[in-house]
Amino acid sequence: MTRVLSCIQPTGEVHLGNLLGALRGWVAGQHTCDAFHGIVDLHALTVTETPGVIGNDTLTLSAMLFAVGLDPDIATVFVQSHVVEHSQLAWVMECTVSYGELSRMTQFKDKSTTREGSFISAGLFTYPALQAADILLYDADHVPVGDDQRQHIEITRDIAIRFNHRFGPTFVIPEAVTPAAGARVMDLQDPTSKMSKSSTSDAGCIYLTDSPALVMKKFKRAVTDSETEVRYDPLAKPGVSNLLDILGAATGRPPAGLADEFTQYGPLKTAAGEAVVELLEPIQLRYAELLDDRGELARLLRIGAGKARTVASATLGRAYGAIGMLPA
Ligand code: TRP
Repeated sequence: MTRVLSCIQPTGEVHLGNLLGALRGWVAGQHTCDAFHGIVDLHALTVTETPGVIGNDTLTLSAMLFAVGLDPDIATVFVQSHVVEHSQLAWVMECTVSYGELSRMTQFKDKSTTREGSFISAGLFTYPALQAADILLYDADHVPVGDDQRQHIEITRDIAIRFNHRFGPTFVIPEAVTPAAGARVMDLQDPTSKMSKSSTSDAGCIYLTDSPALVMKKFKRAVTDSETEVRYDPLAKPGVSNLLDILGAATGRPPAGLADEFTQYGPLKTAAGEAVVELLEPIQLRYAELLDDRGELARLLRIGAGKARTVASATLGRAYGAIGMLPA
């Protein structure tokens, strides 16, 4: 079975765009591939200075991943820092990648420019080495990523090829794949931008923890256009088409066909809001249960960490062995 690794940083809340665009695909994928899902808290450390934040974000994100339907007995859901091999292999990766290669990473160039004047950790620079360790530890065949991460998969391949060449065949060479196409959910206030937690106002972003009343309010205030016709036309009518897309994704129906069922914007907003409330209800119930039972949540994460460590420690052992490190 193809081994697939996806990782997500515990930074902030999960929103409807994450659910419909990615997480639902993860849930379906756990039955068709050997799925590993890492909550990469060590990566979030590159930009965190406040105590207590990462741990709490890790806790809520893991509860959400189980609540949306990842099954700890099928998929391997783990927290990166619970599997010490990530840090250990990351150093080996740092010694296999060059300063020049890391300097060419566009994400580093962008992030260090935006943070100019503030603290830029060395971790922000060596981050791709840690990411390479994440991937190579699991012998991942496929890594589904968006375009912004392609360069990181490319450098991981370069590192793996270099290591295998120097020390003998050790790592599986991973491939970047395009994630199974989910719905592209746009901001309700600015339907030409993707829904995102970093957008300026929360009014356009539906968080998975939003109450039914808040979800309905955000949909009622969704930006449409000055016409009145309900028609699926993402270019000319981005707001209305986004509502149709969301309604379609939440109810499993094609968005273009739904347009015929509405003659006014108001009822479409209500229908989309109600469909999302209904979609979120069981997720929110399970999420609340898990957050109320930290022991159970910890147990689920221990299952994942155990499975992940079995694979990761074997790979690290292989890498140390290939280099010829003196066994402890
Ligand atoms: N760098 C990725 C991001 O910012 C997160 C990530 C860390 C990742 N390790 C990974 C993604 C391994 C895929 C595979 O989104």
